[in-house]
Amino acid sequence: MGAMIDLICSRRSVRKFTEEQVGREQLGEILRAGSFAPSGSNSQSWRFTALRGSGLLPELNRRVKEAFLRTEFSGDAYPAKLAAKRNSAKEDYVFYYSAPVLIIVSNVIGYTNAMADSAAAIENMLLAAHALGLGACWINQLTWLNGDAGLKRFLQKELGLPQDHDVCGALAVGHADGEPPAAAPRREGVCRILEGDRK
Ligand SMILES: Cc1cc2nc3c(=O)[nH]c(=O)nc-3n(C[C@H](O)[C@H](O)[C@H](O)COP(=O)(O)O)c2cc1C
Repeated sequence: MGAMIDLICSRRSVRKFTEEQVGREQLGEILRAGSFAPSGSNSQSWRFTALRGSGLLPELNRRVKEAFLRTEFSGDAYPAKLAAKRNSAKEDYVFYYSAPVLIIVSNVIGYTNAMADSAAAIENMLLAAHALGLGACWINQLTWLNGDAGLKRFLQKELGLPQDHDVCGALAVGHADGEPPAAAPRREGVCRILEGDRK
């Protein structure tokens, strides 16, 4: 049990990757771990679309940048979203940190647990990557662009995203280039245990 908790607590977001490809078997294990996440009423309505060394990755990056540039966000939008739009004007911006693998997690539009189920699956996959000695990072850019019809068409036509799905998240996976920074200190006062004698 301690080993599992140590694994959970030692996972870090990795944003710098070597060029080494992720093994097919390793990718299969990561996807399997995702598929064993809990889901509301066991719906398992998610879809995991993995791009592994595919020529579609740079094409997707290009289309994501174009979509950000034509999307208007209000000035008080989530800062990371505004940063992604700003960065999209830069030649060298790669929203998935040039990782060799990107796994896109989508789920049924309007399904009440779509985001919760997908998040559980993403966390399982982040932990599985870590357990296999790989690095990974949650990637939210595609989620912010669900409203972009042009990008949606590309995801459906070229990547086979189901017509009734939105992207709920993604993760970049690869071999970490260097050690990620240590974890930020945990916030105080988050956890409370209320206990007493059961009657
Ligand atoms: C819902 C969600 C969205 C995130 N989106 C991104 C993202 O788009 N790009 C990124 O670099 N990190 C993203 N992250 C990673 C967080 O920045 C990271 O988990 C946090 O800074 C804590 O660092 P740690 O994962 O190393 O503990 C996201 C995390 C979550 C839970």
